[in-house]
Amino acid sequence: MPGRSGEIIFDQRRQPLTLLRLLKSGGAGSVFTLKERPREVAKLYHSAKDVLFYERKLRAMLELQPDLPTLREGGRERVQIAWPTGLLRDCGGRFVGFSMPILDVSATTDLEHVLQERQARVEKLPTGLGAKMTLAANLAATLAALHRCQHYVVDLKPLNVRFYRDSLFIAMLDCDGFSIQGKDERFPAGQVTTDYLAAEFQQRGVTPGEEEAQDRFALAVIVFQLLNSGLHPYAGRPQGGDVPNDLPGRIAARLYPYGRRGISRLLPAPVSGHEMFPPALRDLFDRAFSAQPQRRPSAQEWSSLLMGYAQRSGGQLVACSQDASHQHFAGLPCAACARAGLVARSARVAQQTNGGKGRGRKRKRTRTAQPLRQAAAARPVARPAAPGAAATTSQLPGLGSRVTMAAVGTLVLGWVAGWGMPAWRAYDALPSPGWWDGFELAVQSGMLLLGVLFYILCVPGLIMSRRP
Ligand SMILES: Nc1ncnc2c1ncn2[C@@H]1O[C@H](COP(=O)(O)OP(=O)(O)OP(=O)(O)O)[C@@H](O)[C@H]1O
Ligand SMILES: [Mg+2]
Repeated sequence: MPGRSGEIIFDQRRQPLTLLRLLKSGGAGSVFTLKERPREVAKLYHSAKDVLFYERKLRAMLELQPDLPTLREGGRERVQIAWPTGLLRDCGGRFVGFSMPILDVSATTDLEHVLQERQARVEKLPTGLGAKMTLAANLAATLAALHRCQHYVVDLKPLNVRFYRDSLFIAMLDCDGFSIQGKDERFPAGQVTTDYLAAEFQQRGVTPGEEEAQDRFALAVIVFQLLNSGLHPYAGRPQGGDVPNDLPGRIAARLYPYGRRGISRLLPAPVSGHEMFPPALRDLFDRAFSAQPQRRPSAQEWSSLLMGYAQRSGGQLVACSQDASHQHFAGLPCAACARAGLVARSARVAQQTNGGKGRGRKRKRTRTAQPLRQAAAARPVARPAAPGAAATTSQLPGLGSRVTMAAVGTLVLGWVAGWGMPAWRAYDALPSPGWWDGFELAVQSGMLLLGVLFYILCVPGLIMSRRP
């Protein structure tokens, strides 16, 4: 397979062409500029194994070209689609690749870059709703032209769609990867991206004949993202643990939270401006993300609606009175202002929380420091009265005290009992006891009783109380 600068290849009329400079090498092939044709490039396949399939596919593409002509704008050519212009062969006549118009890639950016507002600002890309609407309308129109030939992108996603930064025209590359309609044959697309894959294809993939339904779904996702500051239509706030975390899982479960009916399992992201979309736009999104794929709006339907909003003369998009860089739908609030307000409020709350957290940390530090200081100060003197449970624990007698008390209690009881019986016998032996003798015996009996009570009540209580 040819693939080096300086090598000679041949076009269909056997005209020699010299490979000049390698522009880029992708997964399927390498793209070279051509010495003899400065307005064209050659894509040469890496592997000889798929060339038979690609030769037939490329023939079909040459036979049925979409109506997306190169535009002229301020003396510059704007290629809308890098569609093949001819087959290329090696010196032995074997198919090696195809030629196509050269696209000024440096004047373009992919849609992914415009979706994230912060990134778009850094790269000086448009951030207003007007420009995004134009991009969405242009993408829908490009797809509608492709679909009229029954060709489909299939792996349609922001990363695969480029646009000219100055004019906002769409530029499509890598068209030999599309699903192509041949005379009696369909040449399928090779790839899909699950974040943009319709529910019915998430498990089994896209089979020939179903590609338009897939393109319609992916187009609706991209339009939603463009008009809603990059938010994916299946992103949101899950309610409950059974909501899939990933976008493909939510698409498969048909959890679209921005519909006019809403769903309980997934709530809209607070930054979403979908409620500031006009009813006609919301209707199209509701149909695109409904459970019935046959209701999905076609690229042409999207194109007609979005062109109406994008054209200035229509007056359907108006400049915001609060912020000159914002545009919004006529008669509806400015979603960009609402979003900016929300972001500012969140930033304030985050700042307060961070500040609170800072104070909390200080308090925590103080709390940990206090016992250390107390302990240090308390050690030389009496144990400080500690609050709460620690106090309860510290006032319980220790094991040594318990053993001592039990032993002392028993000895006292034994001593009292041993001293009481002889006292009674002595009193009993008296021939005529006086009042003093009776008083002495009463005192001794009382003490004996107190000793027994102390022993009965306190010693078992001490032994049974909580362990130290
Ligand atoms: N018509 C063109 N004009 C200028 N540059 C082009 C053109 N076509 C392709 N390129 C450049 O070559 C790169 C690879 O082209 P392409 O995507 O067609 O190849 P691939 O092998 O199919 O890649 P992938 O594996 O990404 O699908 C493009 O990203 C682009 O930078
Ligand atoms: Mg490719």
